[in-house]
Amino acid sequence: MSTASANKVVLGLQWGDEGKGKVIDVLAGSTDFVVRCQGGANAGHTVVNNGKTSILHLLPSGALHKEAQCVIGNGVVVDPIALAEELDSLKELHVELESRLRVSDRAHLVLPYHGLLDAANEERRGKKKVGTTLRGIGPCYGHKMARQGLRCGEVLRGDFPDLLRQQMESVCAQLGEMGCDGYKVDEMMDQVLPFCDLLKPFICDTVNLLHKAVDENKGILFEGAQGVMLDIDFGTYPFVTSSNTGVGGVITGSGLNHKNLGEIIGIVKAYTTRVGAGPFPTELDEAAADELRQRGGEFGATTGRPRRTGWLDLVVVAYACRLNGMDTIALTKLDVLSTGETIPVCVAYELNGERIDTVPASLDDLAAVTPVYETLDGWNEDISGCRRFEDLPPQAQAYVRFIEECCGVRVGYIGVGPDREETIVCA
Ligand code: IMP
Repeated sequence: MSTASANKVVLGLQWGDEGKGKVIDVLAGSTDFVVRCQGGANAGHTVVNNGKTSILHLLPSGALHKEAQCVIGNGVVVDPIALAEELDSLKELHVELESRLRVSDRAHLVLPYHGLLDAANEERRGKKKVGTTLRGIGPCYGHKMARQGLRCGEVLRGDFPDLLRQQMESVCAQLGEMGCDGYKVDEMMDQVLPFCDLLKPFICDTVNLLHKAVDENKGILFEGAQGVMLDIDFGTYPFVTSSNTGVGGVITGSGLNHKNLGEIIGIVKAYTTRVGAGPFPTELDEAAADELRQRGGEFGATTGRPRRTGWLDLVVVAYACRLNGMDTIALTKLDVLSTGETIPVCVAYELNGERIDTVPASLDDLAAVTPVYETLDGWNEDISGCRRFEDLPPQAQAYVRFIEECCGVRVGYIGVGPDREETIVCA
């Protein structure tokens, strides 16, 4: 049993895909509960253990640790079909979740029409499309905020099929008005109802469950999804996801309070990537981007899309640290930078001839900034075998120290390869 002060929050501090899955996997071995608080099956958390790769979308990545209790909190949007698929794929790995998964009765359901609305909205935006994962995330959160959604707890009601049919009819009418015809309510009902039934044994009041866990001094690991720059309030709106991806989302999405959070750990990739549209100040030109993409294996875990790539942007990381009261940074994929070349790092922006050190709210401004770079020495050595900070080449150590200085946050973990073992835990 751990103490409540051993609780940890893991957040992405860039545009998602920072390598949260691996850090969570490393930390989950010593916790009692792993909790997702926001997002849904749009997330793609990759975990590699003994050379075997697993990608989790909706379930907490900590689920791979067979002792951990897994909670899908009230702030998550739950696609019952995606969940069933994920549970099946874990069964193949002999990971059983029947007795240790709980889904919040307050979490909203992602239903087949949400995916259709997502696609129709993207189509309508044309050149201005967000580049969503098409998992129905935005429309589901939209229904939640408009007080028109269906929650997981409703699945337990005898009249759930009637509620669902009513909702489907109204959304299909809306789709028709958008010029998307041909959706058959009966077919959709037949498609999704059996999966809603499968959800039933997992549903409970997870707020209560988590408060009890706190009272009993259980250790809790909160797993953030996406990254701070995709936050609906603080990210590059409207090129963002539809939830709060920082500490705010952890609180509203779990029902616990700020005193229960423990250490806030921000995951930072040693360079930057982004999927989907929107400004990206340190983005590389296509040839250089492709080289980094291939070296880092930067293809979407959920959609397979090639990720846009660029240099580390410390304006973004420092902004994310300030917003979320960061205690520790976990730096991932440092090994990808072992090329021997010098490494530019963005430390400020220039906008209209002025130097700024924060992320402007206006997208036009962010698109117009020129990054101010400092160039750090590179290293050539294979660092995947390093297990202590002192084992790293001096240039790699200096790279880490530079991040700490610019953000005012210590680096506590360094990823030097994809496997769980390929991690330096800094003293
Ligand atoms: P949505 O969350 O599917 O609505 O997509 C909105 C934006 O967030 C798009 O740019 C997606 O590519 C991005 N996004 C959503 N989930 C992830 C993720 O897990 N990693 C990286 N980007 C994501």
